[in-house]
Amino acid sequence: MAKPKVIVTRKWPQAVEKKLKSQFDVTLNESDEALTADQLADAMRNADAVCPTVTDKMTAEVLGTDNRRAKMIGNFGVGFNNIDVDAAKEHGLVVTNTPEVLTDATADLAMTLLLMTARRAGEGERHVRGGHWTGWRPTHMMGAQVTGKTLGLIGMGRIAQAVARRAHHGFGMKIIFHDPYPPKPGALEGLDAESRDSVEDVLGAADFVSIHCPGGAATQHLLNAERFKLMQDHAFLINSARGDVVDEKALIEALQSGTIAGAGLDVFEQEPKVSAALLKMENVVALPHLGSATTETRVAMGERVLSNLEAFFADREPPDRVA
Ligand code: DGY
Repeated sequence: MAKPKVIVTRKWPQAVEKKLKSQFDVTLNESDEALTADQLADAMRNADAVCPTVTDKMTAEVLGTDNRRAKMIGNFGVGFNNIDVDAAKEHGLVVTNTPEVLTDATADLAMTLLLMTARRAGEGERHVRGGHWTGWRPTHMMGAQVTGKTLGLIGMGRIAQAVARRAHHGFGMKIIFHDPYPPKPGALEGLDAESRDSVEDVLGAADFVSIHCPGGAATQHLLNAERFKLMQDHAFLINSARGDVVDEKALIEALQSGTIAGAGLDVFEQEPKVSAALLKMENVVALPHLGSATTETRVAMGERVLSNLEAFFADREPPDRVA
């Protein structure tokens, strides 16, 4: 029997590309260039399964393309707001993602941003590399202490819980959070974490606010001008979730006016474009969506897609089905 045809939209770690090739009739993307909407629609016409990633916009038009052959979308990424899930359901497409395997890497990155922002690490590095350092002095580049401060988490899913563990056990931080879907009993054991009734309650009480909710229509601009005003003026915003959760224009204004003290950002509203205003500010740490970017994690993500493909083509329920 012919092997199912699978199209992968971007370059994957070699180890998983190799496994994929051994099991399927695969078209890889050697050049690693992003596919256009037309190329994504072509992929839907020419493969049994398409494996996009979080930057590929699988719109209703792409998914509903005429003469579609694809029956399954195996997303390389836990977030799947790049996929019009309603359209996928309408066309009877099975959609899967890659949960769990990137929790630790993303939590590590959120802590990296938090520490870098508080301790002015990006600015300090630019200072040294720029040849501006004239030596140690008592008031040079003082930042904010992290140990013992309050961390407010917007969303309390797997990644937020992993951040909370690092922050509480590693840095003695007090954890407060808001999540409309509270975690399972026992998930927060030992964290002494306090649930707050609203996002507003978290914003007003936190020294650091870290975003961990999914992107998409329901959370778009959750952090807007009104909500920034509720944050303390010494507080920092950390975003390793999705750029569209933050109204970037309002964030820039909040930073410029001193409404908040700084921001650590791994994600942006118009990725890969980053506003020039943000790049000019020394109190902003900007990283290129590195949350899951460790070799171990990216291999594990690829393997997760592979298990979903294997299940789908063996007529089993894919383990990470989201539609
Ligand atoms: C995801 O998988 O959703 C991440 O954003 C990639 O790091």
